[in-house]
Amino acid sequence: MISEDIIERVRLSTDIVSVIREYLPDLKRAGRNWKARCPFHNEKTPSFVVNSEKGIYKCFGCNASGDVFKFVKEMDNISWVEAVKKLAQKANIEIKETVGKDSVKRSEKTKLFEILESSARFYHRHLLESQSAKTALAYLQKRGVNSDSIKKFQLGYAPRNQLLEAALKKGNAVDDLLKAGLITKTERGNFFEYMSERLVFPIFDVQGRVVAFGGRTLDESKQPKYLNTPETAVYSKSSNLYGLFQTLSELRKERKIIMLEGYLDVVIPQQFGIAGAVASLGTAFTQNHAKLIARHADSVKLLYDSDDAGRAANQRALEILIENGVETTVSALPENIDADEFLIANGVEAFVRLLEDTSKSAIDFMLWRICAKFDKNSSEGKQKAAGELLTFVAKSRNNITIRDWIKKVSQTLNLDENLVWLEFKKQRSAQVKSYKVDEKVVLQVNNQIGLSIEESLLRLITDDKNYINRIQNDIFQDAKCSKVYALLISGAGIADILNAVTEDEKDWFSSLTLINIEYKNKDEVLNILLKDIEK
Ligand code: UTP
Ligand code: MN
Repeated sequence: MISEDIIERVRLSTDIVSVIREYLPDLKRAGRNWKARCPFHNEKTPSFVVNSEKGIYKCFGCNASGDVFKFVKEMDNISWVEAVKKLAQKANIEIKETVGKDSVKRSEKTKLFEILESSARFYHRHLLESQSAKTALAYLQKRGVNSDSIKKFQLGYAPRNQLLEAALKKGNAVDDLLKAGLITKTERGNFFEYMSERLVFPIFDVQGRVVAFGGRTLDESKQPKYLNTPETAVYSKSSNLYGLFQTLSELRKERKIIMLEGYLDVVIPQQFGIAGAVASLGTAFTQNHAKLIARHADSVKLLYDSDDAGRAANQRALEILIENGVETTVSALPENIDADEFLIANGVEAFVRLLEDTSKSAIDFMLWRICAKFDKNSSEGKQKAAGELLTFVAKSRNNITIRDWIKKVSQTLNLDENLVWLEFKKQRSAQVKSYKVDEKVVLQVNNQIGLSIEESLLRLITDDKNYINRIQNDIFQDAKCSKVYALLISGAGIADILNAVTEDEKDWFSSLTLINIEYKNKDEVLNILLKDIEK
């Protein structure tokens, strides 16, 4: 644990703008704030705002927000404590950690990582060396996996119920194996090893640490076909992608991802030199997946199986990726064949050609899906199709894309483009919160910018703490305002407040504090606000 004092010293000696500019060279001054294209989602026009006086950043596109520590934490994918240490080092501030809850927690995670890592080695060694792994090796060979891939993906074999014993011998505790998700206790009180007698696919996080395992049965009569270790303190399946770590260096050169379905759908393409092949881990595509992808790639090709489930999965992933500003296309496999099988059967050139030849743009894919669902010759069918398509169009944040898509929708459904536009705007104004951020608004006590009186007052006292004592304790009726007010009284700064409130309140409060307002006469403003509240 690092003491509050030191954290504050680091904060004070750190200029958030120069830190962020090291990551985002295009950070430019915009009025009182600084602006750049957001690193947490993909965008063409900057909506990522940094305020140096307040020491916070906020993206009005994706709502990412926080202080300088959070920024470094997110960008470097390190823990909060590591981020503090990094910035402390830059500022030449020595850190003495006290032993507290936080450091216990951290060393616990470290322990889990160690156990997972050594289990991966255990399984890997068994695959290569043990007699009982012969069928597993033969199976991999049959599926076309070569020894380089076995090494690259650290594939393994779990001999029948041997992990626990081996781990205990090494001095690990049962409890830690449970926490690492390697074993579980059955109702009868026995321990069940998840991977036992399975071909093992270790799952790595972006930093290359083993965080979980997927195990494939080698006995087709044994269900389930794949068994994954559960979520743990170090593993969340919705925030990891299989194969991402192994293709990171290629992604730095060419920021293109191919999203596939299964473990071998990733291993085989990567083995054949297809860069960017990754899969979500037996779970539906999530916002976290999209955010993870947006950090490492600009575009995604989706390639799921060509069945109903595959097409539904494509649509879901597509919608989420578009929402996150990632350019996305959809390619199709022939029916009843997986990506790995297709590649093995037809070779890498045919695979690349398949990706190109069957590629549909995002809007074409959606037109195809939705038009198949409704009768576009009836006016009722048209209306329903248009409704669903516009909901999809509204997910894009790029106005040029939106215009193109609306044109396409109107043409395909044979509808007047202007009418479709109107319908779209109607839909969107109901959906999108609008912040008037950049306009310099001189607040002469009107709420043109959409602030309530209480919000204006809160904003005033946040800016200038001298005013805190000039208002009465019970003045705020609004729950959010009074919560922040209580924090302010207790001496909290903006960053503390952002750390203390819920996600929703954070969005609200950071927007509130980032609006540019200049007061001609603060005292006068305060008086008017107070009078208004009394009324
Ligand atoms: P598939 O059933 O399509 O398996 O599931 P696959 O990858 O083609 O398997 P192979 O080719 O027969 O070896 C696709 C993915 O869904 C998850 C796994 O991640 C799998 O790779 N899955 C599938 C599970 O988690 N559990 C299961 O029982 C089945
Ligand atoms: Mn398969």
